[in-house]
Amino acid sequence: MEERLIYFDNAATVWPKPEGVYKFMDNFFRTHGVNPGRSGYDLAVEAGSLLDKTRKRLTKFFGGDEDAHERLVFGYNVSDALNLAIPGLVGQGDHVITTNLEHNSVIRPVNHRVRDFGAEATYLPFNAEGFIEPDAVRKAIRKNTRVVIVNHGSNVIGTIQPIQEIGAICREHGLTFIVDSAQTAGIVPINMKEMNIDVLAFTGHKALMGSMGIGGLSVRKHVGIRQVRSGGTGVRSVDPYHLTDYPWRLEYGTPNMMGVASLWAGQDWLDAQGIANVYRHEMMLAQKLVDGLRAIDGVKLYCCDHLDNHLSTILMNLEGSDPGNVGVMLDVDYSIATRTGLHCAPLVHRQLGTEEGDGGVRFSVGAFNTEADIAAAIAAVAGIAQWSRQRRFRDAHTNASAPTASR
Ligand SMILES: Cc1ncc(COP(=O)(O)O)c(C=O)c1O
Repeated sequence: MEERLIYFDNAATVWPKPEGVYKFMDNFFRTHGVNPGRSGYDLAVEAGSLLDKTRKRLTKFFGGDEDAHERLVFGYNVSDALNLAIPGLVGQGDHVITTNLEHNSVIRPVNHRVRDFGAEATYLPFNAEGFIEPDAVRKAIRKNTRVVIVNHGSNVIGTIQPIQEIGAICREHGLTFIVDSAQTAGIVPINMKEMNIDVLAFTGHKALMGSMGIGGLSVRKHVGIRQVRSGGTGVRSVDPYHLTDYPWRLEYGTPNMMGVASLWAGQDWLDAQGIANVYRHEMMLAQKLVDGLRAIDGVKLYCCDHLDNHLSTILMNLEGSDPGNVGVMLDVDYSIATRTGLHCAPLVHRQLGTEEGDGGVRFSVGAFNTEADIAAAIAAVAGIAQWSRQRRFRDAHTNASAPTASR
């Protein structure tokens, strides 16, 4: 019988998805798999209505402007969304404040604006516990600062940033605040109005419980993102230029309706569970994991002395062992899936001092993990730690007793 994979790679993508998501997608594709918003027949209108309903539902879920749900635009994922927002808001000579916690989907578009378009950027370090100090944002503001971009929840060390406080500083100084919610949307409450978030970038395939290939931006009313792409919109075809009204302003071609359907069904599941309950479950497991790992000789944990304002993402290393090798042993010997390396967030590892050592081993606990999964993970790391200690002892012993060359 095939051994069951114990999945701890939920920060990469949440898997599996709720059964209702699979069923809804399958049914929608079979019964409504036509192009929405392009044609006037009933089925196309019905498909288009799911698109509209999902915009409204997500806008409400994110605490956006209720009367402007058309400003919820769909794209492929959060990287795609950030590649609309960053070039669309950061111009020549503009200064951007961002952080060492960012994923490459922020770092690279920002660096391209700096290298290729004469923008300036400041990367703020996180404190010893893994948090950005709001005051550091305030101190970094310059005359030409236009945009602040912060990763709401770290995909490496799991810390949740004080978005509301940073948002208040942005509001005070008239700066546009962009938040990358890849790790938090669907598991941590987000209220764009209360948190002063101007542009929220989200991805569908993580805690929102949707499929891969869907994500987008929720943009508040006062924010006009410059268009960097153009194409078909299905309406006003005679116009020789891309439409400037939302949502078409930032949408191009046929939308990913299967992805939209998955987000709709994901919302049904989240409503039924309550995101606070899902979060509580994941954090209960994360705490057990941290307690178990901490008791193992040679384990080093990063930024999880306490799990307040934390996601269920835990980074560790094993003394004397390459993280990549630990990941392979977890997979091959114990059927446990983790993610090792730099996690597309090199600045986090640079600041932690783990960049040179090939990063770390990341356990990301998800809604469908169990206490038995945690017990198996702790036992596996304990087994690898013991093996690694014995091997080092053997190597040291062998080297020490190796015959020396005769003079
Ligand atoms: C914080 C963060 N930002 C951006 C991304 C990129 O997400 P996607 O691949 O859905 O674009 C990830 C993915 O892990 C992430 O964790």
